[in-house]
Amino acid sequence: MTVAPVDYLLTRRSSKFVQAPGPDESQLAQILQAAMSAPDHGRLQPWRFALIRGQGIARLADLAISGIKAAGLPLAPEKEANTRRWLDRVPLLIAIACKLDHANTKIPEQERMLAVGAAVMNMLNAAHMLGYGAFWSTGLGSYVDEVTEALGFDALDYRFMGYLAIGTPVQAPGPAQRPDFHQFVTEWTGA
Ligand SMILES: Cc1cc2nc3c(=O)[nH]c(=O)nc-3n(C[C@H](O)[C@H](O)[C@H](O)COP(=O)(O)O)c2cc1C
Repeated sequence: MTVAPVDYLLTRRSSKFVQAPGPDESQLAQILQAAMSAPDHGRLQPWRFALIRGQGIARLADLAISGIKAAGLPLAPEKEANTRRWLDRVPLLIAIACKLDHANTKIPEQERMLAVGAAVMNMLNAAHMLGYGAFWSTGLGSYVDEVTEALGFDALDYRFMGYLAIGTPVQAPGPAQRPDFHQFVTEWTGA
């Protein structure tokens, strides 16, 4: 049975727990290229991505955990162990940042962030269409400057927007429970 692309969109679900295999180079290129189709006011191209794979993921785990502790944020030993166990299996993380481009004052900051959000949504859908699971997380020290600066995104020039984990779902997700859209929609006629 073929599923129309629009129906396929409705089957996307996030999968936090993913393992190898992750996307190969050509699939990864498709996922990243999908981000380039996001709407982008002023063609600012504010999206920035850092690929984290292999040993880099273990290093990121150390960086995030030490950064969270150094910032005095709570991190229970159980949560730390769970984070390491989670990342141990993840084959690919993509760190996401929004370039602020202070010189351009015409387009508000929130529109750059929205463009990056739209880019990430395209990546989530591309990963799904390629048969992978993906999960957007703002854990792992996303709001700790020491962590995001070590990833190359200083707080002055960027807004760090988290990570995408992409790979093969450890467990096939069941169908998502989604709300009926009617409760979120009104019709405005101006009359
Ligand atoms: C910007 C952003 C950050 C998120 N950060 C987290 C996070 O740190 N931890 C978490 O459990 N879910 C986080 N989520 C939610 C998950 O990515 C996911 O959307 C949620 O588990 C629901 O799954 P669904 O996408 O299948 O509806 C975040 C979502 C967004 C949009």
